[in-house]
Amino acid sequence: MTVWLEGVENRPFVPTEYVVRLARTPWELAGYYALRRTVFCTEQGVFRDDDRDIIDQVAMPIIAACCMAGMPDRVVGAVRIHEVEPGLWRGSRLAVHAEHRKLGRIGAELIRMAVSTAHGLGATRFLAQVQEQNVLFFRRLHWKSLGEITLHGLPHHDMEADLSRYPPHGQDQTWLLRPQSRSRQVA
Ligand SMILES: CC(C)(COP(=O)(O)OP(=O)(O)OC[C@H]1O[C@@H](n2cnc3c(N)ncnc32)[C@H](O)[C@@H]1OP(=O)(O)O)[C@@H](O)C(=O)NCCC(=O)NCCS
Repeated sequence: MTVWLEGVENRPFVPTEYVVRLARTPWELAGYYALRRTVFCTEQGVFRDDDRDIIDQVAMPIIAACCMAGMPDRVVGAVRIHEVEPGLWRGSRLAVHAEHRKLGRIGAELIRMAVSTAHGLGATRFLAQVQEQNVLFFRRLHWKSLGEITLHGLPHHDMEADLSRYPPHGQDQTWLLRPQSRSRQVA
């Protein structure tokens, strides 16, 4: 039997809080790889069974986790950063779980965490290879296209962040996101 409650909005559950930070624990790292597999293998089919590559041996993993009762509970966002040569950093494998997209600026805040962390570690340039459908998203976040490329058979743009828009910070930085108010707090 279905009971309809008068005046109660029928919408999916939306977590009230997310944390964005470097992955610190084994469960965060496991969730980070699982999410990447879900998005890049199952959803997009860019890779077959596993999207891990040699860059994972040196990259720093960054996560967004949704919180339950104030505690990080499940990894729903991921990105990684690594230094290619002194001063030149790259970000890759940006992913937000489909159920958490366009909710609390999780993708935008993962990018901010990625670029500002690299900036804090001495980056003088920060680049990423961006899928064509996301170029506008990156442009709005102060990135410029350096040109079109094909990667994994798909159209991409090589893009560069405007570092002046991403103040450097340390590796222990944690951000709290609250989707409903769309505000961000520094912990
Ligand atoms: C691309 C992706 C990371 C964006 O994550 P997200 O959490 O939905 O993005 P945000 O909520 O931070 O978006 C911030 C703003 O950009 C907009 N936006 C999101 N994706 C966009 C896109 N592809 N193009 C244009 N605008 C976009 C949002 O609507 C939001 O706008 P608002 O501030 O006016 O409300 C996510 O869609 C994703 O994981 N996609 C699949 C994997 C993928 O494509 N990875 C990137 C490879 S380059």
